[in-house]
Amino acid sequence: MSQLAAGAAARAAVGKPGRNRMGRDWIPVLAEVPLFTNLSRRHLKRVSSLARTRRFHSGSSIVRRGDPGSTFYVLLDGTARVVTPKGRPHRLKAGDFFGEMALFDDSPRSADVLAEDEVLTMTINCSAFRKLVRSEPALAVELLRTLAARLRAAEKSS
Ligand code: CMP
Repeated sequence: MSQLAAGAAARAAVGKPGRNRMGRDWIPVLAEVPLFTNLSRRHLKRVSSLARTRRFHSGSSIVRRGDPGSTFYVLLDGTARVVTPKGRPHRLKAGDFFGEMALFDDSPRSADVLAEDEVLTMTINCSAFRKLVRSEPALAVELLRTLAARLRAAEKSS
């Protein structure tokens, strides 16, 4: 995801604390998220209608290991750190996603995810995320591709 899109995302959310509906204005930003690259405009519109933005202050916890999971996140601005029980911490940057595992297997969160600076995320609730994945194979393939890459990286670092 380009700095431009990340900056635009951050500017669009300025002055709007808490959770905000996204809507069509966000479609150009979502189109730059690697997870959504192969989605049609119609599907991007659907994603934007289901998603919200949420901000996190530097140092705050976004996801806690062991908690039940009900939300999927895409990082739109800032950086976050994934801390797993084993292996090296993993840095997430604008365009990366997290929080998918607990939603796929109905198990507790597998890792802590911490905001390294001021972070802007896009969030989708569990039922909307599952519906999107079922209806959009391109999205499912991208999720699986990243999961495979993360598994390989985790095996190397353990
Ligand atoms: P979930 O288990 O729902 O919540 C914690 C998230 O951290 C997890 O989903 C993944 O999105 C992410 N995560 C867990 N382990 C790793 C890893 N080894 N590398 C990158 N991201 C991870």
